[in-house]
Amino acid sequence: MYKHPVLLQIELFARAFHSGDASGHDWHHIRRVRGLALYIAEKEEKGDRFIIEASALLHDIPDVKLNADNQKGAKKLKAFLNSLPLAEYQKEQIQNIVASISFKGGNETELLHFEAMAVRDADRLDAIGAIGIARAFAYGGKKGQPLYDPELPVRKQMTEEEYRNGKTSSIHHFYEKLLLLKDRLYTERRKNLQKNATTLWSSFYRNFSKNGMLNDENISSPGTDKILRGKSAVW
Ligand code: ADP
Ligand code: NI
Repeated sequence: MYKHPVLLQIELFARAFHSGDASGHDWHHIRRVRGLALYIAEKEEKGDRFIIEASALLHDIPDVKLNADNQKGAKKLKAFLNSLPLAEYQKEQIQNIVASISFKGGNETELLHFEAMAVRDADRLDAIGAIGIARAFAYGGKKGQPLYDPELPVRKQMTEEEYRNGKTSSIHHFYEKLLLLKDRLYTERRKNLQKNATTLWSSFYRNFSKNGMLNDENISSPGTDKILRGKSAVW
């Protein structure tokens, strides 16, 4: 199938940047996000496919988790885009979309354009379900956080700084971000997700707790359902 030469260039750059990552942001995360974003665009018959594909391939290049700091990440993306034979408005569009993807502990940007919605939803679809469970534990291990710590509260509101650097566990991350995503999607794909994501998590969590991992009294009484309905801030 014909591929725009600039997209091939972008793909090579993204592959090189993400290869060797062990935090759930490896090249195959990027590949899946590209596939999902294009699938969403095709199903809904909307959006500029070139912009969607380029933005999906580049969406994690400036991620602060993968760079020394925010500014260095943004510079890296800008320098790469400037090396490509693209119009100024296209570079700007891609940069704006990439900058709007992040969850930031709930302090996220409202989206206005379909291209950004498709890429953000695709990234979020890859953060839930079985892949999402695997990625969260991979990230937690890489970051050095515990699988689960019964003494930590589940944080409901936080600044981006608290979200990035505060104490949490991989199980907590589901309550602090991943289970909230189903209500924060824009495209039609959210309908499938709303049905499936919580069911898989509930079954995973039940099994996890059955195996003696959650033997703390804070968590044995209020069940997952109560936490999901927001009736309990602490397990
Ligand atoms: P964004 O880039 O949208 O702000 P995040 O920084 O929340 O998104 O993270 C992207 C992915 O990294 C998540 O979907 C999850 O898999 C993983 N991740 C981030 N923070 C944590 C955490 N504290 N514990 C476990 N996984 C995490
Ligand atoms: Ni991503």
